[in-house]
Amino acid sequence: MMRIDIITIFPTMFDGPFSESIIKRGILKGLVEIHLHNLRDYAHNKHQKVDDYAFSGGAGMVMMIEPIDLCINTLKSERRYDEVIYLSPDGELLEQSICNQLSLMGNMIFLCGHYKGIDERIREHLITKEISIGNYVLSGGELAAAVLTDSLVRLVPGVLNDETSALSDSFQDGLVSPPVYTRPRIFKGWEVPEILLSGDENKISEWKHQQALERTTKRRPGFTTE
Ligand code: ADE
Repeated sequence: MMRIDIITIFPTMFDGPFSESIIKRGILKGLVEIHLHNLRDYAHNKHQKVDDYAFSGGAGMVMMIEPIDLCINTLKSERRYDEVIYLSPDGELLEQSICNQLSLMGNMIFLCGHYKGIDERIREHLITKEISIGNYVLSGGELAAAVLTDSLVRLVPGVLNDETSALSDSFQDGLVSPPVYTRPRIFKGWEVPEILLSGDENKISEWKHQQALERTTKRRPGFTTE
């Protein structure tokens, strides 16, 4: 069973992505549990404040240590966690091999940051892993946490059916996927490659592998395709 606890100041941002498609199915099948925690509920100060000015000045607010520490410790007092992950543009770049590793975990906390970041002492003492979903800056960690959640949930055994098995995904074998086609065979004169209609399973699977190799070389020249 995978359990993800997400700490955020915008819990409703997850309503859409978590109530459709694969994530919804994983939850309904009882294979994943996702719990949202509103950080403001852990801000025991006058205006439920979660951010403050940076020491030494500089532009932008910094997320305060107390509410985050209280929220993480409350969760940790209830169960053991395998990872406490902070979503941050300067974290480790997310790729399929990391998704595969994390999909084997039981309980995880995802912390979504905002403003100019979080008090560094949170990263030093409470966070076990930092993940970025790409070299660009989002307005907050929420969309990144939703992306990470989606990439993990679909790898949990039983969430996908055979037809959509994650094993044939792009990147799972170090290659991107070959092109796919469906009916009609000819549309506006644009034809489906003849080989796919040949019925010769060996030739077809060889063609698909060749296409995957070519695409990988072209689109991801850095990938090792031995
Ligand atoms: N928060 C803001 N930008 C982000 C990114 N690119 N990845 C993860 N978390 C983020």
